[in-house]
This record gives sequence, structure tokens and C-alpha cells, in this order.
Amino acid sequence: MPIPKVFIARRIFQEALDMISAEADVELWSDELPPPYETLLQKVANVDGLLCLLTDKIDAQLMDAAPNLRSISQIAVGFENIDVEEATRRGIPVGYTPGVLTGTTADMAFALLMAAARRLVEGAEAVRAGKWKTWHPLHYLGPDVFGGTLGILGMGRIGLEMAKRAQGFDMPILYYDVYRRPKDVEKQYNMTYAPIDTVLRQSDFVSVHVNLTPETYHLISHHELHLMKSNAVLINAARGPVIDPAALYLALKEGQIGFAALDVTEPEPITMDDPLLTLDNCIIVPHIASASVPTRLRMSTMAAENLLAGLNGQPMPNCVNPEVYEK
Ligand code: DGY
Repeated sequence: MPIPKVFIARRIFQEALDMISAEADVELWSDELPPPYETLLQKVANVDGLLCLLTDKIDAQLMDAAPNLRSISQIAVGFENIDVEEATRRGIPVGYTPGVLTGTTADMAFALLMAAARRLVEGAEAVRAGKWKTWHPLHYLGPDVFGGTLGILGMGRIGLEMAKRAQGFDMPILYYDVYRRPKDVEKQYNMTYAPIDTVLRQSDFVSVHVNLTPETYHLISHHELHLMKSNAVLINAARGPVIDPAALYLALKEGQIGFAALDVTEPEPITMDDPLLTLDNCIIVPHIASASVPTRLRMSTMAAENLLAGLNGQPMPNCVNPEVYEK
């Protein structure tokens, strides 16, 4: 059998690259920025396999441009950039990297919660700018984290990890999800299931952990932000478009809520004229919640395993559309 051709849309860990190079003829996109869509269309023209990221649009037009494509593997647990239905229609398996980034992402969500509550970024920036003149009883005040009520929207894998972390801070948890967790799990983590409005009204911290779907697009907008406490902290390490950024700006500016801490924005990257960037009570980091060395390494090797399985006609270990194997 001829050696398969693969396009890898960004630099990845060497371990993963070695795995793929051992079995395929690889072209690697080594720029820091993603290949422009038009370039990607050209790059995939003769490939059998594609290793891609959230920032690459993988749609029907791209699949048309890649008539030999038989394995798509994404280095991410999310895959809203891929037209999975279209891939399935064409019998192409799509790989992803679930599970491995759960704890790492929850760590970041909790770090954002603490950073916002205790005004770490403002404080650190003030020190660098030479603004630390004295100890002042009224400077850099924020809420206590311990004992505060944590609201979790979306009690999937990452939401549950967030709940576990909150145990060490004696935080009661209110949560909403379309699926309720079993009672023993609720008891174990001091979690109370409640309607979304109640979670928003009664929580001191609200952390968003839902997938982006048509139903969760702008799930948090003017109405929801008005329900929240005036000193509440809103954390988003899920997907930017779950929160309406214009509504968030107004809520932060007018003191409807206290702080926000975002790992993700709408759009990404955030544009430099976005008014959220003018606010001291909003921390924004560049979608780095899964960026620990072990997690990103494992994501890369999982993506390599999926890609190679797809090329070898074997079931991908982590496949978004396993129904392709039933055909
Ligand atoms: C994902 O995997 O979907 C994250 O957003 C990036 O790690």
C-alpha cells in the first residue's frame, strides 16, 4: 500500500510528530498562525489524513477539496469547527481528545475564580507600574473565596472537577445542567440542583462549563446578568459565545456584577478595540485552560493515535462519529 499523506495544521509535540512520521508522509504547517482557509484547501488536495485544531474550519468545501481524505483528527475535546455530519455522510471518522484535559481545565477555571476575586492581575500590574506606595485598608478589596456559593452551569466532566476543587474551600454548590447528577454524587460534593435563574441569583461565583450549541449560544446575556449578585464573579473557561460580550461589558461597567474572568472570548482572538479590555474588573487570558505540559502532550499523542487508526482503517480510540464504522 502506498504511504499515506498527512497534513498537520500546526507544530505539535515531537513525540506525536514522530508517531505520525513513522507511518506517513507528513507536511507540517510550522507558522505560529493557522493556515488561511484558502491555503488549507490547497494543502489538503492530496492528503489521506488531516490533523487540525479548533481554529481550522473543516467544512464540506474543504472535504470536496480533499477527495482522498479518510481520517480527520482534531487536537481538542471541542469540535464545533468541524462539520461532523458532513464527514459522517462521507464515511470519514473524526477524532478528538476527550477526558485528558478535564482536570487541567478545571484548575484554570478555579485559578481564574481566585485571580478575579482576589484581584491578582490588577495587583501584579500595579506593582510593575510602580504604584505600590503603601499598605492600605481599602485597596484591592474583593470577596472571600472560601465559604462562597459556587454556581456551576454545565455539570459534565469539567463542571464536576470544578465542584471537587471547591470542596477544599468549603463552598456550597448550586448547579444547573439539562442532566441531573445522581443523588450520591450531589451529596458527596455538597451540590444542589436548581433552575438556572436560581443558580444565577444565589451564587457568589458562577462558572460556565457548557458545550457551545445553538441552545447555549449567548446563554448568559442581559437578563441573566441582571439576575446575578452585584459582587458576583463570572468565570468562563468553556466557549466564548456562551456569554454575550456586549451584555457582559455593560454588566461589568454598570456594576450589575463584580468581576469576570475569561479564558475564552467571542471572537477569538478578542479584537484590541473590544471594550472588555478597558475594564479593570475583567481578566482575559488567551484560551489556555488546557495548556499544561502533560495535558497538551497527551492531547497531541491522542490525536496522533486517532489519525493513524483512521488511516489504517481501524476504529479511532476517540471518535466523534463512531457510526461511520457501522456503514
Ligand atoms: C478544547 O480542547 O476544546 C479546548 O478548548 C482547547 O484545549
